[in-house]
Amino acid sequence: MSKFYFTTPIYYVNARPHIGHTYTTIVADTIARYRRMRGDDVVFLTGTDEHGQKVERAAKSAGVTPLQYADRISAEYRRLWDQLDLRYDRFIRTTEWRHERAVHNLLLKARDAGYIYKGFYEGLYCVSDEFYVDEPTPEGNCPLCGRPLEKIREENYYFKLSAFTGRLLRHYEDHPEFIQPEPRRNEVLSFVRGGLRDLSVSRTSIKWGIPWPDDEKHVIYVWYDALTSYMSGIGYGDDELQYERLWPADLHLIGKEIIRFHAVYWPAFLMAADEPLPRQIVAHGWWTFEGEKMSKSRGNIRLAQPAASVLGIDALRYFLLREMVFGQDGSFSLEALVARYNSDLANGLGNFAARVLSLIEQNFAGLIPEPPGLPDSAANPFAQEWREASAAYQQSFDAFAFSQGLQEIWRLVAAADKYLAETKPWSLAGDPARRAELSAVLYNSAELLRIVAVLSYPVLPHSAEKIWAQLGLRGSVGSQPLDSLAWGGLRPGDAIQKSEAIFPRVQKEDAIERMEQMEEQIRAEGAPKPAEPAKPAPGAPHSPAAAPDGKISIDDFLKVELRVGEIKSAERIPGADKILKLQVDIGTEVRQIVAGIAQFYEPEKLLGRRVVVVVNLAPRKLRGVESNGMVVAATVGPEGRPVLAGFHEDAPVGSRLK
Ligand code: MSP
Repeated sequence: MSKFYFTTPIYYVNARPHIGHTYTTIVADTIARYRRMRGDDVVFLTGTDEHGQKVERAAKSAGVTPLQYADRISAEYRRLWDQLDLRYDRFIRTTEWRHERAVHNLLLKARDAGYIYKGFYEGLYCVSDEFYVDEPTPEGNCPLCGRPLEKIREENYYFKLSAFTGRLLRHYEDHPEFIQPEPRRNEVLSFVRGGLRDLSVSRTSIKWGIPWPDDEKHVIYVWYDALTSYMSGIGYGDDELQYERLWPADLHLIGKEIIRFHAVYWPAFLMAADEPLPRQIVAHGWWTFEGEKMSKSRGNIRLAQPAASVLGIDALRYFLLREMVFGQDGSFSLEALVARYNSDLANGLGNFAARVLSLIEQNFAGLIPEPPGLPDSAANPFAQEWREASAAYQQSFDAFAFSQGLQEIWRLVAAADKYLAETKPWSLAGDPARRAELSAVLYNSAELLRIVAVLSYPVLPHSAEKIWAQLGLRGSVGSQPLDSLAWGGLRPGDAIQKSEAIFPRVQKEDAIERMEQMEEQIRAEGAPKPAEPAKPAPGAPHSPAAAPDGKISIDDFLKVELRVGEIKSAERIPGADKILKLQVDIGTEVRQIVAGIAQFYEPEKLLGRRVVVVVNLAPRKLRGVESNGMVVAATVGPEGRPVLAGFHEDAPVGSRLK
């Protein structure tokens, strides 16, 4: 058993988790499950990155301390990972004391070796990326995120990055696998070949950070701090035994935008402290939403919960891994998600499972039938196919090519469909003379379903377990070793347990509406909820809890700006039968607002109606139509009929509700 210690980036706590963060953690969870089936001793670390100006600012605007803010969002991350059953082994928060100590350790080792000195920095700085910018874009913005830069001047401690140019280049050459995929490796190579400048690793303009060991005016640069979490999370400077066992990391899984921090700065920090380097850094691409970069200002950030709740956790996992060619960018859309769900899961795997199990139920009283006499290729048409598919799948998953690996499994599903169409077991059923043939066809199909369940487990853990149980198999499919996967695991005579459909078909429009409504609801709940740790991180700092009765202060209530609006026009949106596009006069302007009331209100009857509008909601798109605010309605009865809030007396347009 070889150890496999790997990490996700630790996520910033300035905003709640969205589909992009979820993607990385889902990929990591898939890798963990896959590696375990390959027999590795896996340790999977994730966590939250809690220092720096972004968090300081977000906390300030929420009216809480940075630590309180960090507590809330860090808890929200853990809650989401738990809801999605993403099973990390360790969780590190950079506000934990064990982490602070590790950062000091690493930094002091570099300083003792002569790689840190004091100097002056004057120049441009990107607050969002916590990054000193030498080469802004032609418009003068950040080259990483495109946002405007700030001019700063401060006394800093510097890290002698320039001293590592040669050593880094040699390392990249000696270890071509160190940075993957290839385009990222080339990007890093050309950056380092251009020569490295020393790096400022302290800040005096920021208070929210780990203090410099013996100079408290400074805090440690947030990337020095954050990257060290990969060591502090496994006991560096605290639990040496564990650290020695697990370090170096076998893999840092990251998004492509942070490759430079991981493939240049991090190995240099480690070289300076004479610590071993991680074995591999693998960067995936970015999810856009319907082709556009997801961002708060565009109002098109997508959350993971709606898809997971309407279509299921496995459907979300499948879509993210199947749709994106690992390493490249991918476009997320609800249409594509539902289309994949229906074609690959409901009509594909789900239908295959349901057909085989029903036929066994109807023809063999729910008992696994006898296999064909000889396990040779004539009796088992899949003999070669499943082996080839399984080998190609493993090769793909070893190389992070999840989409390709899934296609290998789905080739088997297609082969099964073809086999059933050709052998027609339903027509064999009526003929007692062909009983042995029917038995062989159903055994072969069920056995292929078992193999498919095993192979698909890393991506579809919950559905694979269901198929496993429905086939009447004991134990967990996740603990099946891939190495010893062999044909013939089903035992004739064992009882199957067919129950509910694994992937019930959904109606596209309806599923999309439900996901959009849920997305809207979560957003309307507003900023992250008070901390309620799902799984407290060991050693996590203590913070004041929220009001236990769930009450909010008047200040919190006043953050929601409610005004009287008048509906000026209302129209239906082609292809979306639950929502209306409204133009609403709110006194200062006419706003376009999308409302989920189309099934209960005729557009013509709404003209001139006075309604209550939440006017300070971030804009967002519903079915591709921009919505700038929300019309308030009661939800009534079991079908959740919306009833618009209004007034019995005259309320002038634009008046504020308090
Ligand atoms: N805190 C740093 C990382 C420090 S690691 C020592 C950070 N945090 S982050 O919250 O911004 O998360 C970045 C990571 O989230 C990306 O590297 C990527 O893994 C994931 N994603 C965030 N948005 C994403 C998309 N739109 N698409 C895909 N993944 C993205 O950077």
